[in-house]
Amino acid sequence: MKAVILAGGLGTRLRPLTYTVPKPLIPLVGKPLIVRMIESLPQSVDTVILAVSYMREALEDHFRVQPCGRKVIIVNEPSPMGTGGAIKNVAHHLDETFIAMNGDCISSLDLREMVKRHRECGGIGTIALWQVEDPSAFGVVQLDRNERIIDFQEKPKREEARSDLINAGYYVFEPEILDYIGKGQVSIEREVFPRVLGYGLFGHRFTGHWMDCGTRETFLAAQAKVLELESPPPPSQEGCCFLSPSLVRSANIRSATVGPNACIEAGAVIGEGAEVSGSLVMRGACLGPGCSVRGSIIGPNYKVGKDEKVEDSVLANR
Ligand code: GTP
Repeated sequence: MKAVILAGGLGTRLRPLTYTVPKPLIPLVGKPLIVRMIESLPQSVDTVILAVSYMREALEDHFRVQPCGRKVIIVNEPSPMGTGGAIKNVAHHLDETFIAMNGDCISSLDLREMVKRHRECGGIGTIALWQVEDPSAFGVVQLDRNERIIDFQEKPKREEARSDLINAGYYVFEPEILDYIGKGQVSIEREVFPRVLGYGLFGHRFTGHWMDCGTRETFLAAQAKVLELESPPPPSQEGCCFLSPSLVRSANIRSATVGPNACIEAGAVIGEGAEVSGSLVMRGACLGPGCSVRGSIIGPNYKVGKDEKVEDSVLANR
């Protein structure tokens, strides 16, 4: 079976970090987001098609050096074609039931179960659905009694939302869906789904966790969730006060306080008396003595000054 991962967005909400690191390669608890997504695919998926555009070379370089155990085909779009256009652009690889997913979510969804459900329902597509309290920031999905999708609402006002189920960005499709995706820039959610309702689009609810990693807040919330689930072992760094759960990868730390919910990537330097919590410090970043970093993402090789206070920020070199 093949899976298409949409990994070509600009990631504007994570700028300035995404000027130099594409969102799929941002490390989420020690592994690039895209690698976590690939690992979540069922064993039956032998080929992963990465639909890329923005910073394609960085993704190609990554998979050249660090293969992921499955065949990875990287397909470029000359410019981002939208979620539908990106799937259409890889149509020549798709001739049987396939999985498609956004490249920036983590979840407990069992895709094997979802593929089974899709086959039982017999529609043109199945969309994973996640229940939320306030659906106003999402694509809302309305179902009939048989879990068949009958309508969509894009980011409705909270009081006007017709359900509390949102599109979680994971799909199983029959190849026929490709006939309904037009040429050029196309949104699968807004333009294609409403058009194919008559051919059977079904919802697949799941429980557990679901998080999109598109903003600083949601990325760091996803990091906290993965840290909670994986609880990495404490570092063997002398003089470091380490508050679990956190991850430290061969960094140089001097009498600093790290955690909870902090990830320090390899080669980072944390100065004496510094405090880091609820944050990601990427490779080679340097935190000056006495500084404090909370709720923030510090990009590769970025320097935070002595005694500087950083809160709720994304800081990166351009
Ligand atoms: P923002 O600019 O911050 O909204 O981020 P984004 O560009 O990633 O957009 P969004 O979060 O809406 O995208 C959801 C998923 O679809 C992400 O995994 C994107 O990489 C992917 N995606 C969005 N647009 C495109 C596109 O035009 N082409 C491809 N190949 N993937 C896309």
